[in-house]
Amino acid sequence: MAKQKTTFACQSCGAVTTQWSGRCGSCSEWNTIVEELPEVHAVPGSPSPARKGNAIALEGLEGEFAEEPRLVTGIAELDRVLGGGLVAGSAILIGGEPGIGKSTILLQVSAALANQKRTALYFTGEEAAAQVRMRAKRLELEKSPVKLAAETNLAHILQTLKAEKHTDLVIIDSIQTLWSDGLDSAPGTVTQVRAATQMLVRHAKRTGTALLLVGHVTKEGQIAGPKVVEHMVDTVLYFEGDRGRPFRILRTVKNRFGATDEIGVFEMGEKGLQEVANPSELFLGEREAGTPGAAVYAGMEGTRPILVEIQALVTPSSLGTPRRAVVGWDTSRLSMLLAVLEARCGVNLAGHDVYLNVAGGLKITETAADLAAAAALMSSLANNPLPANTVYFGEISLSGGVRQTGHTLHRLKEAQKLGFEQAAMPASGDLETKTLDIHLKRVARLSDLAQMLGLDTLGNST
Ligand code: TYD
Ligand code: MG
Repeated sequence: MAKQKTTFACQSCGAVTTQWSGRCGSCSEWNTIVEELPEVHAVPGSPSPARKGNAIALEGLEGEFAEEPRLVTGIAELDRVLGGGLVAGSAILIGGEPGIGKSTILLQVSAALANQKRTALYFTGEEAAAQVRMRAKRLELEKSPVKLAAETNLAHILQTLKAEKHTDLVIIDSIQTLWSDGLDSAPGTVTQVRAATQMLVRHAKRTGTALLLVGHVTKEGQIAGPKVVEHMVDTVLYFEGDRGRPFRILRTVKNRFGATDEIGVFEMGEKGLQEVANPSELFLGEREAGTPGAAVYAGMEGTRPILVEIQALVTPSSLGTPRRAVVGWDTSRLSMLLAVLEARCGVNLAGHDVYLNVAGGLKITETAADLAAAAALMSSLANNPLPANTVYFGEISLSGGVRQTGHTLHRLKEAQKLGFEQAAMPASGDLETKTLDIHLKRVARLSDLAQMLGLDTLGNST
């Protein structure tokens, strides 16, 4: 047998190299390269290259296909994020930082399905069975017929799954704790995590079981992150949120059976995660209308409109290089916006520290938030509050023009529903607004907004 060659794998992105180095050349993370022994044939069931294959029949694109059967959990925020429930035979990865609530939601899901007379198995590798029972008691779910086991040995888990006649849902909490005898690498390394995922996904596909895998996101890079298995599963969800606040957002980043960019909003309470059916009310709940630097953004998250407050604070800086800090938005987007404000509107922020925050812990990825962010910045600089009854949306181009964005009607309807009377929005794009009772302030250029707010001479007045 040929001598096994040692390889080195980055525990953050999974890149494989032949040499150790302090920094991964692929993802630029430090101290993530670990020596691993790739024992491909040790993975039970993997094909030996020596075996000869058979020619398979090829088919056309047209033909019969069946709608995939779905298990509706009854937790509406989760079902929507999944595209209408768990697809039988699919593998779903739930990533998130420790303590965010992954185990809590999975216990709630398994109990919900078990209560519908479905077979739900929960394998915990992170905690002892007693800890899971304690959580179940806290959530008042201890009577649900969930089948629980504290196990980390992959072979035992696979054998248990085989012994069960039929399973609807299998939960693995977490994928990083699993280990397989056949592999020399330590649990949590890329080799182990990948091999375990591969075996479990194969089992799920073969038996039509929905598989939910927990993947911890780690900053230290000591164990392989969920990124290394994202390509092996059908759906990837990330659980986000500020641990200091009760709101949790479940976001789809990949979904073979539904739309991406869909979010589910939850609130962590004394009895687990509660669904938040109207997130706009939640995000605007603590609003301090009438404060300078606050603008309400009419955003879209997947198929759902969400109103959220964007807060800016612009203060004279005593530093040589003024501070720029952003929470919940893109830093480079802010830099672009500041440059456009300066070049196209004469609003000079070079001598100011700029802080931008999206309220409620939401992360905004849409470029349509540009106009709201710009309005918040200008309002703070002028120390002049924006009208409390107005929402803002529109993408800003480098030329200072305000570009059209999608889902205009959805955004306006949500704004109207929450009592807003006016929307500052792009000038282009026709709209069937007969059904709406909201005043539209069309903004063609960013300088128009500055003028509209009476802030057009800011550059000179401050
Ligand atoms: P957990 O689900 O264990 O997080 P993860 O599996 O992602 O590591 O959630 C842990 C946190 O949630 C913990 O700090 C306690 C809190 N929590 C509540 O506030 N209410 C509850 O009902 C439960 C079960 C947990
Ligand atoms: Mg956990």
